[in-house]
Amino acid sequence: MFIFSNKAAKEHKRLQKGTKTAMQKILDLISEEMKKAFEAAGYDAELGKVTLSNRPDLCEYQCNGAMAGAKKYHKAPLVIAQEVAEKLNESDVLSEVSAVAPGFLNMKVKESFVRDYLRQMRTDEKFGLQMPEQSKKIIIDYGGANVAKPLHVGHLRSAIIGESIKRICCYAGHDIIGDIHMGDWGLQMGLIITELQKRQPDLIYFDAAYEGEYPEEAPFTISELEEIYPTASAKSKGDEAYKAEAMEATYKLQSGVAGYRALWKHIMHVSVTDLKKNYDNLNVEFDLWKGESDVHDIIPGMVEQMKAGGYAYESDGALVVDVKKETDTKEVPPCMILKSDGAALYNTTDLATIMDRMEHYHPDKMIYLTDKRQELYFEQVFRCARKTGLVNEDTELVHIGFGTMNGKDGKPFKTREGGVMRLENLIREINEEMIRKIRENAETKGYEVDEKEAEETAKVVGLAAIKYGDLSNQASKDYIFDMDRFTSFEGDTGPYILYTVVRIKSILNKYTEQGGALTDAVIQEATNDSEKNLMREVAKFNAMMEAAYEEIAPHRICAYIYDLANAFNHFYHETKILTEEDAQKKAGWIALLALTKDVLEVCIDLLGFSAPERM
Ligand code: ARG
Repeated sequence: MFIFSNKAAKEHKRLQKGTKTAMQKILDLISEEMKKAFEAAGYDAELGKVTLSNRPDLCEYQCNGAMAGAKKYHKAPLVIAQEVAEKLNESDVLSEVSAVAPGFLNMKVKESFVRDYLRQMRTDEKFGLQMPEQSKKIIIDYGGANVAKPLHVGHLRSAIIGESIKRICCYAGHDIIGDIHMGDWGLQMGLIITELQKRQPDLIYFDAAYEGEYPEEAPFTISELEEIYPTASAKSKGDEAYKAEAMEATYKLQSGVAGYRALWKHIMHVSVTDLKKNYDNLNVEFDLWKGESDVHDIIPGMVEQMKAGGYAYESDGALVVDVKKETDTKEVPPCMILKSDGAALYNTTDLATIMDRMEHYHPDKMIYLTDKRQELYFEQVFRCARKTGLVNEDTELVHIGFGTMNGKDGKPFKTREGGVMRLENLIREINEEMIRKIRENAETKGYEVDEKEAEETAKVVGLAAIKYGDLSNQASKDYIFDMDRFTSFEGDTGPYILYTVVRIKSILNKYTEQGGALTDAVIQEATNDSEKNLMREVAKFNAMMEAAYEEIAPHRICAYIYDLANAFNHFYHETKILTEEDAQKKAGWIALLALTKDVLEVCIDLLGFSAPERM
């Protein structure tokens, strides 16, 4: 129904095209070199798999293949390792290859090899991430806002995680559609209409005889709407007659009574305009603003199809489809399609939405983001969709259930007074804390902050604090919302990452102010450990991205940029970059910084936030 053109989608289409490269992952290249050596020494090449060292104090990489080969070749593993090491004396990739008891191969990579790898990364639009042969069409169902009900922190995780997953899939070269899938058709609509009728019984919408056009202006504002719903909801809980009226109104709306439909459109318009504003503040943009109401008309056809196929049958007056399997270890109840009074349920709209999506978008995959308490529910829906043939055999259906955001007391996050925390209030609190920190930071560093700039910066950094605090945890886990920790400029936090980006930007700016040109700067071989360490961290980008996409795991990106930021800061504290006299060396560092910054900025964009110019 409400489909807005989408700036984010275009933006990500741009990010998506990328130059097709043949850049491999650095660990694969290193393994290849090792495999050649195994082969040259007369052993099975497959033994040459290299991993990151688990003793980074001793070496950078290691290979345990000689140990694995000992049995097969009836030889001491140390002897095999020595023979292989010898073959690597002249390697362009590896240095300091040593065979150590009982048979490990320890090694480092050549500085020149890492240099060349990073140079190539810098010329590649996606820093060496391979694009898929065949891109997939993926629908991401996230956000899940309910019309006319305020957004609360429960909706926050769905929006934050879903947005990041959408961006990751896009960047990985796939064709993505993000759908908010609003709750816009249920009892909450009937409640609002009922309450309105009590307050303004003379409204033209309630005149059954009226046949003219309805007013364009809604008979309420967003703040009235936000007050009407909770009032009506509370009334219905203690008043059976009131509730019955609301159900009747819901029924009338769904069966198409003109005045009710017209009111519904007003509720939708007022509410969606407000929702959009809220999601804009979160840097979350949907391609589709569809909802439960959009599939209302196709439900009867779908139900008929399920009956005709022999899948749906009556049980205690309700219409159900069995979805249990012999292999189930837990009870999986039947999927209910219609209630005994013939009304559609949450399931019904979800199934019809699947049918609708298959018909109009032909997705290869659908990913749903909700609270993990809906796990069993989605299991039922997915099984039912498969069984009744709503999807193709190879259409992937994935539910990502996330944990609860808790307060410091370990219980679901509440306001200080113990009520449900509204999203906008949470964001306001974070922003206030951020402004305080920015002022404090300016004071200790002894510079003036412009009030307006501080507010703008606080918004950008505050968003990073919230999103990073959420995304750095594995989605399925609960986490504690800790204002102090999330907004800190130190540690594994969003502000720390932004601080690092800002620091790099400032060095690069000074370099260009001194007359240097970033485009002329070329990455050089590392001359010390902290520099090489930073280079090796940067080089992990494509492998990390591949895993983040395959595992649908934004926390992978967080872990990577935290390591990368640490590696950069370490290097920065040990190196006087701008005062370096050797121009080529200095330009090499600048090029390394520019690449580090570009990688960090792409990563934070994939997490759904950005860095300010200063902070
Ligand atoms: N509106 C629902 C809620 O607030 C979430 C919708 C999730 N998506 C779906 N396709 N069921 O719980």
